[in-house]
Amino acid sequence: MKPVTNLAGVDLRAEIDRLRKERNAVILAHYYQKPEIQDLADFVGDSLDLSRKAQATDADVIAFCGVRFMAETAKILSPEKIVILPDMDAGCSLEDSCQPDEFAAFRAAHPDHIALTYINCSAAVKALSDVIVTSSSAEKILAQLPADQKIIFGPDRNLGGYLSRKTGREMLVWPGVCIVHEAFSETELMKLKAQHPGAPVVAHPECPPVILDHADYIGSTRGILEYAMAMPGDTLIVATEPHIIHQMEKALPDKHFIGAPGADGNCNCNICPYMAMNTLEKLYLALRDLTPRIEIEEGLRLKAKKSLDAMLAMASATVGQGDLGPRPGVVTGD
Ligand code: 13P
Ligand code: SF4
Repeated sequence: MKPVTNLAGVDLRAEIDRLRKERNAVILAHYYQKPEIQDLADFVGDSLDLSRKAQATDADVIAFCGVRFMAETAKILSPEKIVILPDMDAGCSLEDSCQPDEFAAFRAAHPDHIALTYINCSAAVKALSDVIVTSSSAEKILAQLPADQKIIFGPDRNLGGYLSRKTGREMLVWPGVCIVHEAFSETELMKLKAQHPGAPVVAHPECPPVILDHADYIGSTRGILEYAMAMPGDTLIVATEPHIIHQMEKALPDKHFIGAPGADGNCNCNICPYMAMNTLEKLYLALRDLTPRIEIEEGLRLKAKKSLDAMLAMASATVGQGDLGPRPGVVTGD
């Protein structure tokens, strides 16, 4: 096919549809993707569900509309597939905060600890870990570890701190943060709550404790969506990346969903700049050219797969609880 350099005349949706059939490709998208990407994806989900889909698909190509660590996870679990990421620069501040050599040194300094590691990290850090967790599986996985097992938790200090407070388990927590969830302002959130008395607040556990303290529900993106679907009231304040609101508005057009504000009350600082790098144009080009492609050296892949396999097995085990869940004793409706 002749390369198209000017995409102005291209019907991107139709072309993406044609290419997905021609390539036998599946398009997986995270809830933080732009609405136009969510709407044409074959599956939209949280990190755990996207990993499961990537493992189970019989497509030849996985077009991953998310960030690099998610596409890497898909490749680790499905090495025979071609995995493309529309923009290879779509990284993550949590991944950046945890460099493999520093993490290896931290592990070496604590030889009697196991490494329970958030999926938001590189393949190299996964290879240095024992069990990977997502926000929807962390508590259930933690509950399956012996009570006297010493634990290193990285790289998200907010998720680690939240898990420690909720379960009473002490953990050595790596000091990484998500720049998006760190940007919410407590002052602005309190102003918003005063404007909408009775509206519950939902928050992702990547938020700092000052934000989580105001939340009626804390959970993964899937958990937050499930809370929205079940809430009795008509207004919800959402403290996570605001593109998730697209799914809420589609399912519940008569309800009102308000993104929690950042420091000046109306900045775009809660939009994940990495997730936003993916566009329809880049997705079209990636499907057309089958690049940028995720490649992982086989030795590294096999090491990283062990900790991901442990996560998938423990997340599906029929013990413990499911998602991080509502906090006990907190009123969740209005
Ligand atoms: P979940 O979708 O698993 O809640 O993760 C959120 C996130 O930070 C993705 O980068
Ligand atoms: Fe990383 Fe935060 Fe963006 Fe998720 S929202 S990809 S944790 S920077």
